[in-house]
Amino acid sequence: MAEGRITRGTTGTNRLRRVDRWMSSLPVLRQAKDPLVVDLGYGASAATPLELRHRLARVRPDVEVVGIEIDPERVRLASLMAVPGVSFRQGGFETPLPGGRSATIIRAFNVLRQYDEHEVADAWHRMVSRLQPGGVLVEGTCNEIGRISSWAAITKDGPQTLTISLRLAQLEKPSIVAERLPKALIHRNVPGERIHDLMNALDWHWQINVGLSVYSPVQRWLATIQGLRGDGWPITGGRSRGKLGEVTVAWDSVAPR
Ligand SMILES: C[S@@+](CC[C@H](N)C(=O)[O-])C[C@H]1O[C@@H](n2cnc3c(N)ncnc32)[C@H](O)[C@@H]1O
Repeated sequence: MAEGRITRGTTGTNRLRRVDRWMSSLPVLRQAKDPLVVDLGYGASAATPLELRHRLARVRPDVEVVGIEIDPERVRLASLMAVPGVSFRQGGFETPLPGGRSATIIRAFNVLRQYDEHEVADAWHRMVSRLQPGGVLVEGTCNEIGRISSWAAITKDGPQTLTISLRLAQLEKPSIVAERLPKALIHRNVPGERIHDLMNALDWHWQINVGLSVYSPVQRWLATIQGLRGDGWPITGGRSRGKLGEVTVAWDSVAPR
């Protein structure tokens, strides 16, 4: 019996490009003996699993992507689009895979958004149990066209990081991402919570570096990240990630209190 429930299937071409790109950089993708990646809850079309395979294959040509959807009709339709390296099957958080294999990476995007906050821990736990050693669950949310995005990276040792990824051109303030935080954090953007402090710190540094906009929003973002570092936020990922409009912080620094 598939674990979970059918929810709205909203998806779109190129919507998940930011998280696809970040997943491409994960060392485990290069190192895995059996590079098997799951796109769990891919929605009403086959678009995101097909794009995911295309992008990951640039760094790992033998990668295999399995799209898992809880809605059998969505699986039937997507299966018409199957190509070598991309297949589709019905299932839920239990993450069924062929031949009892386990996954290098499970990506669940815009799935838990439609669940309750108290359901997150069990869902994470269930998906993480289906990972290979060193594997990563990537769980997050984005807006309809993928310009505002954030995700948690979770391993068998628990949540590790929160990444925020934004289109910097015309960005008014980084805390716009507050509406698109992973379910574990979205209701915690209130005074007294660390994620609220991060939203404020991002906006503060973005604002005081407004003068750098004349060079480029990227310069302004890099200065924003530098400011966060200076404040003591535990930021991982170098300048190259910052240039993409990303920032990654250790999960403990934003975890709900
Ligand atoms: C909003 S769509 C997201 C589509 C795509 N991931 C994206 O971000 O564009 C959410 C999909 O997740 C599916 N879903 C919800 N719970 C699920 C579960 N436990 N296991 C598998 N799929 C699930 C829903 O049926 C729906 O099609």
